[in-house]
Amino acid sequence: MHENVPHGGKLVNRMNLLFSIDSSLNYVELDNLELSDLELIANGGYSPLEGFMGKADYDSVVQTMRLSNGLPWSLPITLAVDKSKAMEIKKGEPINLIHNGAVYGVMDVKGKFLPDKKLEAEMVYKTTDISHPGVKKLFERPEMYIAGPITLIKRPEKSKFKTYYLDPIQTREKFKELGWKTVVGFQTRNPVHRAHEYIQKTALEIVDGLFLNPLVGETKSDDIPGEIRMKSYQVLLENYYPRDRVFLSVFPAAMRYSGPREAVFHAIVRRNFGCTHFIVGRDHAGVGNYYGTYDSQKIFSQFKEEELGIKPLFFEHSFYCKKCANMASEKTCPHDRQDHIILSGTAVRGMLKNGEHPPKEFSRPEVVEVLIEGMKEVYTKT
Ligand code: ADX
Repeated sequence: MHENVPHGGKLVNRMNLLFSIDSSLNYVELDNLELSDLELIANGGYSPLEGFMGKADYDSVVQTMRLSNGLPWSLPITLAVDKSKAMEIKKGEPINLIHNGAVYGVMDVKGKFLPDKKLEAEMVYKTTDISHPGVKKLFERPEMYIAGPITLIKRPEKSKFKTYYLDPIQTREKFKELGWKTVVGFQTRNPVHRAHEYIQKTALEIVDGLFLNPLVGETKSDDIPGEIRMKSYQVLLENYYPRDRVFLSVFPAAMRYSGPREAVFHAIVRRNFGCTHFIVGRDHAGVGNYYGTYDSQKIFSQFKEEELGIKPLFFEHSFYCKKCANMASEKTCPHDRQDHIILSGTAVRGMLKNGEHPPKEFSRPEVVEVLIEGMKEVYTKT
């Protein structure tokens, strides 16, 4: 195993919270996705990236899933600006990176370029269909990308999940403290249902600890909000997981919904947070029918395990089987589909909206209570 070495060899640190702001500098306004990327570059979550990608890395990542130095990296991490803004800013100039009027960072501008977004969509999302939420977002962004190393000078607000925000250096420290040599990372943008629990606990049988790392950055509007999910994770952990084998903290990145490419990205980033293993189940980071059920697993065959530095653990579609009276998958269950309890995300959200409880074989009753209660508020607001 790689002994928890970060991707590229060392954990990047581009934070300087004592930096004094120069408000005379030109500025670029970041959206939510870019702000979360800024923080994850700065705290080393995206090691070895030190800033928003320049043309050489961008082209290489889009076309080969590698940085220009050959290291695996599957998603472009870019900062978009409109043409007139790009014209104002000169190469070699420092600029402020602002969000809602506050300066969060500075960037030394090293380049600007016009991306081929159609190609980016085809290569990264495998579709140019704007019904795909990631593609829609890509085409809605301003047309030019501006690049260079960044420094984070103010942390984004942590009002929502307070103690659950940990930087990679802190999660690494935590795993050491817990005495875990092997740690499996679990990415999720959903509540943890029985199928998720099953694959987590199956993985936990072969490693020391589980790092439950729900994504709480921007998600599409019909995904269950992070605040409600966090409550559901807490109640689940309290009731069904051994305390000293699980560690929960949030992943502030935005969802791209780019399926296979995002699965590789999720794995590399969790390596930076200190994981040695990473769970990839059915249609990881997928949306609609854009990706095959196991495409997010197959993509890993394009990399050597040692160059990713984290071992993916693949799981088949899991479900509760009434005849087995157990959680299972096609690999372990001989019974027919009608014996399996399988509900789509849309069906579950529909039930929660009507205050109906999905069966306990699908989701723990404590979790369902939290979700019904939480979603009541969401639905009365909308
Ligand atoms: S994701 O967009 O964050 O990947 P989700 O929260 O649904 O979505 O999934 C979290 C992880 O659990 C992913 O690795 C996904 O592949 C896996 N997963 C979700 N549901 C199942 C299932 N029924 N069987 C096997 N794996 C699953």
